Amino acid sequence: MAISVSQVEVKKGLDEVYVKKTKLSWIDGQNGRLYYRGYRIEDLAKYSTFEEITFLLWYGRLPKRDELSKFKSTLVSFRWIPDELINLMKKVPKNAHPMDILKIGISAAATYDPELEDMSSTANIRKAMRILAKAPTIVAAWHRIRNNQDPIEPTNNLDHAANFLYMLNEEKPDELSSRIMDVALILHAEHGMNASTFTALVTASTLSDIYSAVVSGISALKGPLHGGANERALRMIMEVGSPDRAESYVLKKLARKERIMGFGHRVYKAYDPRARILKEYARMLCEKKKDMKLYETAVKIEEVVLRELSGKRIFTNVDFFSGIVYYHLGIPPDLFTTIFAMARIVGWTAHILEYWSENRIIRPRALYVGELDKQYLPMEERCMAPEEKLELLSKSK
Ligand code: CMC
Repeated sequence: MAISVSQVEVKKGLDEVYVKKTKLSWIDGQNGRLYYRGYRIEDLAKYSTFEEITFLLWYGRLPKRDELSKFKSTLVSFRWIPDELINLMKKVPKNAHPMDILKIGISAAATYDPELEDMSSTANIRKAMRILAKAPTIVAAWHRIRNNQDPIEPTNNLDHAANFLYMLNEEKPDELSSRIMDVALILHAEHGMNASTFTALVTASTLSDIYSAVVSGISALKGPLHGGANERALRMIMEVGSPDRAESYVLKKLARKERIMGFGHRVYKAYDPRARILKEYARMLCEKKKDMKLYETAVKIEEVVLRELSGKRIFTNVDFFSGIVYYHLGIPPDLFTTIFAMARIVGWTAHILEYWSENRIIRPRALYVGELDKQYLPMEERCMAPEEKLELLSKSK
């Protein structure tokens, strides 16, 4: 063996491995707290806006009024996507998953960016702004195109979250829906060194461009153990259908050793604070729609899962209630993970910018546990029957 297994420790899943220092966010997993640049997530969800926390994460401080207004109008000016990109989307199979379209869209948008290869920090922030501003346009356009409808052009008089709902549903959202969408984006914007952020960082560490890094992040986020859990959590709540069916459904799933989507987290060993906020919005939206069924079913599922799994420190995560919120905002389930991505573009790019200030290529090791110095057999010998091999062996002696 090349190296003794006892000489190194393989950290499966990179558990407790630190890859960089950061001032962006901190998760206090034991106490269920989350901070963006030192501000508690509950305060940001209550008082801030998605554009403001984007400024905060990218520039390290809250903006003054005129700074925010300039920042917002620059973002707005980047919302439009080229007609060629719309035409490209029209050629893709209509059943393509929206996360795959988002990858295509961001990759294509890169080719139109005049600053693609400019690695100065000012150009990189502008590119991050363009990616952030165009992502909702791509997602909404795709949703319209696959339903044989013309995409709705972005408007310049709505904020980021409200403009997305407008492009999706062809009507200006009411104040509550806009605010809830905005808060959902705030809650998903940044979350430390999760799988997709790490993936984006690996790409960025090779000094590839920021679009490629974001596309890498989207690819990792798509998985059901990460961002893809929100879509599956809502489908599960719908499949359960009513609170009285929750108990047997959960117990059967656990007996089969299946995972319940929307529960468990590598870092949180307490209730995810983002889930608490989304749970409340899910309740408000169900009340507004005068249809409590989804909420009550979800609450019952949660009760059973927590009763069964909280002893293993498995609690509700952000993906459990977000689906109900999006569903009641008129968003179809297969778009949920794209919303996660639309928000997380901020965290991915903020980490990339932070890392690039002290870049080193990410190049870990794999512990080789295979054999060495094996004899290479030519094809004829590999294909021989055992008796032919023996004959050959006796001839060579
Ligand atoms: N349902 C049932 N059992 C679970 C769950 C769950 N949701 N999550 C973890 N466990 C069990 C797991 O089976 C294992 O049990 P045992 O020790 O008996 O084998 C134990 O808990 C530890 O699990 P793990 O897979 O080692 O934990 P991890 O830190 O590697 O995984 C996780 C974290 C999020 C991938 C996992 O909890 C999970 O699969 N959850 C469901 C998917 C989900 O909701 N993902 C969204 C995460 S939050 C948003 C995001 O960051 O994307």
